Amino acid sequence: MAENILFVNSCIRGKNVSRTYKLSDFFIKKYMESKKDCVLKEIILDELNLKPFNSDMIERRNIEVSERKTDELISLAIEFAKFDTIIVATPYWDLSFPSMLRVFYEHISVSGITFKYEKDGTPKGLCKAKKALYITTSGGYMGDNNYGYEYTKELFNFIGIKNTYILKAEGLDIEENNADDIIDKAIKEAEVLGEKF
Ligand SMILES: Cc1cc2nc3c(=O)[nH]c(=O)nc-3n(C[C@H](O)[C@H](O)[C@H](O)COP(=O)(O)O)c2cc1C
Repeated sequence: MAENILFVNSCIRGKNVSRTYKLSDFFIKKYMESKKDCVLKEIILDELNLKPFNSDMIERRNIEVSERKTDELISLAIEFAKFDTIIVATPYWDLSFPSMLRVFYEHISVSGITFKYEKDGTPKGLCKAKKALYITTSGGYMGDNNYGYEYTKELFNFIGIKNTYILKAEGLDIEENNADDIIDKAIKEAEVLGEKF
């Protein structure tokens, strides 16, 4: 059976400018070449215009989950739960990632669809995906402050995706660094990762 991959494109600056996109594009092409039987769906967050949840939306979503007559606010979560592999590409912004990605996470975190609580209150992830990759680039060095990745890893674990890997390139905006060389080095790492991911 074909491996269904979801590419969550949070590269806000766009395909022609974003270094994170360049790195993710390389990785995805390599990965798909090596696996052959893969189907890729790309969600471009900049084009999706998702709204953050307000009180009205939360209420409507609860009704959708319990009645299942409409799926306007839960369709993304239903779709997300069915993919085999998730790839998130996002720049490092303000110690984490652009808020569009946080809004996307809000839309896929739905009790009863991507996770549920057992009777004793233990959470259980309901997503099919076994693995995810978080691709990011930063202007400086993230060090121990890669909160976007840490948060993504924990959230994905909560919804059932137990293995989240990272591919990153740092220091791209530091004047004395050569950003192209750093991306080329990350691309080499992407080749190795592609084989074991
Ligand atoms: C709004 C904004 C916030 C940023 N915040 C940080 C930051 O907190 N730390 C950092 O090292 N770089 C930061 N940067 C720099 C980006 O991480 C860096 O330029 C990255 O490579 C951009 O990725 P892109 O080329 O895919 O857009 C920020 C850039 C922008 C536009």
